[in-house]
Amino acid sequence: MTQSILKLDSVDVSALESYREKFALDVLTGLSEPRKSIPSIYHYDAEGSKLFNKITELPEYYPTRCEIETLKRNIAQIAGYMGSETINLIEFGPGDGGKTRILVEYFLNKGLEFQYIPIDISYSALDDLHQRFKKSYPKLELKGLVADYFSGIKWLNNEYDRKNVVLFLGSNIGNFNRAKSKLFLHNLWNHLNDGDIVIIGFDLKKDIDLLLRAYNDSRGVTADFNLNLLQRINRELAGEFDISNFRFFATYDVFSGAVESYLVSIQKQEVIIGEIGKSFHFDPWEPIHTEYSYKYLESDILSLAKNTGFILKENLYDEKRYFVNSVWEVNKPHAS
Ligand code: AVI
Repeated sequence: MTQSILKLDSVDVSALESYREKFALDVLTGLSEPRKSIPSIYHYDAEGSKLFNKITELPEYYPTRCEIETLKRNIAQIAGYMGSETINLIEFGPGDGGKTRILVEYFLNKGLEFQYIPIDISYSALDDLHQRFKKSYPKLELKGLVADYFSGIKWLNNEYDRKNVVLFLGSNIGNFNRAKSKLFLHNLWNHLNDGDIVIIGFDLKKDIDLLLRAYNDSRGVTADFNLNLLQRINRELAGEFDISNFRFFATYDVFSGAVESYLVSIQKQEVIIGEIGKSFHFDPWEPIHTEYSYKYLESDILSLAKNTGFILKENLYDEKRYFVNSVWEVNKPHAS
């Protein structure tokens, strides 16, 4: 049994200072645009991650429950993609690893040969996961990589000559716009080898009321999750946001398929952000865009796979067909 966490030299973003500088620069850029925005990656500090975990337990937020159900009811098919020799089971941004447990437990019980490799830029997130998995699965081969996803895969390819199965769960792909998701997936294809497998969680387009309720939850946890962005700026960048002067608003664009989240300034205000050395003006009812959560048609998923070099092997669903775990194979027929 070997379990470890490795920090790749190629990334230094986990160093607190450079991360804070990047945060400051992204906030400056986002709040200086005519259409103000804050990148959604900044939702996930310790407080934001806690709030996100609370969201996943809300009765209205169906995606997490549907994906868990999808993985459970299709676990035998998923195991079929693992192959007979030792493979790398790679997971991008594993979060609390709740969904991965379903797979890992089943694969261990079946005696499948694999090394579990969660990749995340946050050391502390991987360390938490490692501590919990060590207790639950002492026999699990685990190598956490503190890296950006593509540096992680590059490193793995140099280190091992093995089949890769990559998990990109939680409909995290939905937080990229269409162009960015295509770029991301093409880049992923480029880093993988012919025959490697990718399993991606997509939330499907569905009844609009259901979609809107998932983001406008009755307990206001999603509102707090978004307002935490301003509180994070206050904590880390000496911001002076009064969050009672902002309200959360989520809407759905039926055409693009994006649930769009905003924080709206309810009055005219100037807000100083100390670390940036600048004050930002907000008109009454001026929005800050905080997140896109794209929903997909099955035809969108098929074209995305085709256009980025993959073969769509199968779509796995929950009972209500709200969610898809789509299984793709890397197709590089001319690779030697
Ligand atoms: C992580 N991500 C896929 C979630 C989503 O649905 O876009 C984040 C979230 N935002 C509000 N609720 C959940």
